[in-house]
Amino acid sequence: MSSTAYARPSKPPGPAGERAPARLGKEVGRIEPRKLGVGLVAGCCFALLTYVSFARLFAIYSPVFESTSMVMSNVPPPPAKQSKAEDGKEPSFAEASITCDENGVDEGFPYARPPVCELTGDVRISPKEKTMFFVNPSGVGPFDGRGEKKIRPYARKDDFLLPGVVEVTIKSVSSPAVAPACTRTHNVPAVVFSVAGYTDNFFHDNTDVIIPLFLTTAHLAGEVQLLITNFKPSWVRKFTPLLKKLSSYEVIDFDKEDEVHCFRRGHLGLYRDRDLIISPHPTRNPRNYSMVDYNRFLRRAFGLPRDNPAALGETTGAKPTMLIIERKGTRKLLNLRDVAALCEQLGFAVTVAEAGADVRGFAEKVNAADVLLAVHGAGLTNQIFLPTGAVLLQIVPWGKMDWMATNFYGQPARDMRLRYVEYYVSEEETTLKDKYPRDHYVFKNPLAIHAQGWPALADIVMKQDVMVDLTRFKPFLLKVLDALQG
Ligand SMILES: *[C@@H]1O[C@H](CO)[C@@H](O)[C@H](O)[C@H]1NC(C)=O
Repeated sequence: MSSTAYARPSKPPGPAGERAPARLGKEVGRIEPRKLGVGLVAGCCFALLTYVSFARLFAIYSPVFESTSMVMSNVPPPPAKQSKAEDGKEPSFAEASITCDENGVDEGFPYARPPVCELTGDVRISPKEKTMFFVNPSGVGPFDGRGEKKIRPYARKDDFLLPGVVEVTIKSVSSPAVAPACTRTHNVPAVVFSVAGYTDNFFHDNTDVIIPLFLTTAHLAGEVQLLITNFKPSWVRKFTPLLKKLSSYEVIDFDKEDEVHCFRRGHLGLYRDRDLIISPHPTRNPRNYSMVDYNRFLRRAFGLPRDNPAALGETTGAKPTMLIIERKGTRKLLNLRDVAALCEQLGFAVTVAEAGADVRGFAEKVNAADVLLAVHGAGLTNQIFLPTGAVLLQIVPWGKMDWMATNFYGQPARDMRLRYVEYYVSEEETTLKDKYPRDHYVFKNPLAIHAQGWPALADIVMKQDVMVDLTRFKPFLLKVLDALQG
């Protein structure tokens, strides 16, 4: 087992074109109390070992769940030709080709390489049979003995949830005669994907569906037909502004559709990079989109007005606006009112809100803020709506949460060109001190919790509340003010 997934110092950079590993080492101990420093350095090697298996667990359990519970060709699509049945002619197709990307590995993010296939030629989608018929006279392709390739097209390779994802078959057939007749013909490519899994958690809505869809289709400028399986009307409604921005055509409910839809090009599954981290990648992100591009897309789709935070200073007299996202379940900020009062005192105009089902409404609130403050959790995903240059302030609960704090929210903030400030709570500021004695490993060696796996983490670390020490916290707010002026 490799133990170097996150450690830049212990592994030379990979071959050119490969992405840099996330930096655990660099983050360790930055804001942790000094007295732990030595232990942290000593614990570092152990941390590296632990985080690999820890990350593997994330392949099974969602990191932010509250309960414990091919090579992409850059070839443009063949020119659109009129291919109406009434012409009495078969449409002409590009030569059949299929490429599937299914064995990719991203060691730190093992769930981040879901299979995806891209087909060019005569593609006939029969949702009723959950099948994409692919006219492929040569029979060449990644097919089994029956000429089939089966994929569950949810963009997170996660054994825990995949059984709930509709399985779609690509069936290689030797000629159009043995494929179902087209009842509708499209001049744009098809993209078939699932919205099962962890959707309705806002982190996963983005990481498992919307960002992958963006990576797969944004370059098509709306000229793409989406077919959604595990169709959830409420989810589709919630994200309609984004779906409409990506596709100019009405979404097809793959679970209910009776017609046979024909295309010259199609995708089964979506390209996915990491979670809220996307980087240039020859197969996963061939168009080199960045999170800044994603922000721009979201702002346009939701009509968010602010690309930059307000100009501050004596001339404008404007107060910096701060949105505090309140959590009501786990990881509550117990003295939120006091924190808000301190922020007001320092000159922020503070709003407190809870993220809800109204994505556009909340996006507007976030976009109006210069600073977003929240305790670690899916709500921090809302940073995607901040204006570029705004500040994210993450309160990280007790328990050596560096890897998660950095990789789920800190690095994405930097990638979106936000200013990022993190505050690690001390053992005095967590409700864990009411549950465990100070000599317990929860305080002496929190990595031991990580070593036990996700259930222990979910049970201990994820369920604490925090009460920040205002004296200790205040310098971080000053840092935020500085960042806004910088
Ligand atoms: C994407 O970035 C890589 C280097 O990271 C570069 O070689 C490639 O040409 C870029 N592709 C596009 C489409 O800009």
